[in-house]
Amino acid sequence: MKILVVGGGGREHALAWKLAQSKHCSKLYAAPGNPGIAQVGECVAIGAEDVGSLLAFARDKAIDLTVVGPEAPLVAGIVDRFQAAGLRIFGPSAEAAQVEGSKAWCKEVMTHSAVPTAEYRTFTSPNDALTYIKNHEEPLVVKASGLAAGKGVFVCRSQDEARQAVETIMRDKAFGAAGEKVVIEERLSGEEASILALVDASSIYTLESSQDHKPVFDGDKGPNTGGMGAYSPAPLVSEKIQNQVDREVLVPMVHGMKVSGAAYKGVLYAGIMVTPGGPKVLEFNARFGDPEAQPLLVRLKNDLVEVLEAVIDDRLDEVTLRWDPRPAVCVVMASGGYPGPYEKGKEITGLAEAEALDDVVVFHAGTRAEDGKVTTSGGRVLGVTALGEDISAARDRAYEAVQRIRFHRAHWRTDIGVKGIRRMDRQK
Ligand code: AMP
Ligand code: GLY
Repeated sequence: MKILVVGGGGREHALAWKLAQSKHCSKLYAAPGNPGIAQVGECVAIGAEDVGSLLAFARDKAIDLTVVGPEAPLVAGIVDRFQAAGLRIFGPSAEAAQVEGSKAWCKEVMTHSAVPTAEYRTFTSPNDALTYIKNHEEPLVVKASGLAAGKGVFVCRSQDEARQAVETIMRDKAFGAAGEKVVIEERLSGEEASILALVDASSIYTLESSQDHKPVFDGDKGPNTGGMGAYSPAPLVSEKIQNQVDREVLVPMVHGMKVSGAAYKGVLYAGIMVTPGGPKVLEFNARFGDPEAQPLLVRLKNDLVEVLEAVIDDRLDEVTLRWDPRPAVCVVMASGGYPGPYEKGKEITGLAEAEALDDVVVFHAGTRAEDGKVTTSGGRVLGVTALGEDISAARDRAYEAVQRIRFHRAHWRTDIGVKGIRRMDRQK
């Protein structure tokens, strides 16, 4: 079977790594891929958002299964276009991908479906938004409604910051058309978890839990990033919380989308805040998390092709997911300066030495192959992922691997997994 992975980041390397191990996979392509993916498949120079060229490529090569990593092509309708051409593809339709592509739409569906989430209002006029902020002294979060590559959310400490966020999104148009609508919502407090579920026409199958680390510095300090590391499972997600999320979030949301005429199919990612009043939704994503996919996929024992095909064919009820009981920890190595400006083109050394460690996989994100060397080409460069007997052991091994890798101004958080370890210690 010929498989195409769309995207070229750490999540896509994890997907490609896992798909290439399938007994059904005879050839794997990735567009655009990266040097890590090139170890398990062939990379083709087509951008992940160039849906027309992806379609032409898939037709030309008679691709049997396409797996989409990032949100932008999903929101742009890649699934609809491939299906119209008779090609098999894993992911939601453009209608359903609005759950990520329009925060305003997502909030409406959540409200109609009684899914617990922050109180909110939607604005299309900056003046109305500013008036609302003037009348609300409690902490607020201001979000561009559309896709903003994870940068359109401002968690504000003061009314002044909230006003500034509205100026940036609506008047300076920092995110273009994605900022024509803003969602202003109540700021929730608690600890976050990522709950991903496979969804087909009649079933929802929740994956093992995971936890991301969004801020760039240790102790959750500094600006938010795409994610500086993740681990799975997350002890925060007790059986009780998992059940609550299944019952109060996933079931009503999937039903609510269906009745809105936007039935969901694919992997649905719920970003959850576990508040004193129970789990509440921060956001939904229409895809695997990055970096959450890395620890999840190294733990998954099933043949991923069989799992994704079952979703496409509405046979998810026949699937039993099997997980490595050992936790996995993924530490992201980033370019110094990220998420602000950073330099590229720095040589990376020590990759083979890191991967020589048992139960370690180094997923590539922002890397490039140049003159026989691997160099940095993005903010998040690598996702160094390790399994261990417990979170502590997985974490030690991941950091041992990180220590073997070098590039100029490499930055990583040193506390990935610490929240989970502390919670386990408290429960002892
Ligand atoms: P989002 O892309 O909507 O998940 O927002 C990105 C990050 O902003 C989340 O992972 C949270 O850390 C934070 N965030 C978003 N909404 C809220 C909220 N209502 N209260 C507190 N933090 C939030
Ligand atoms: N790690 C957060 C995300 O994938 O959106």
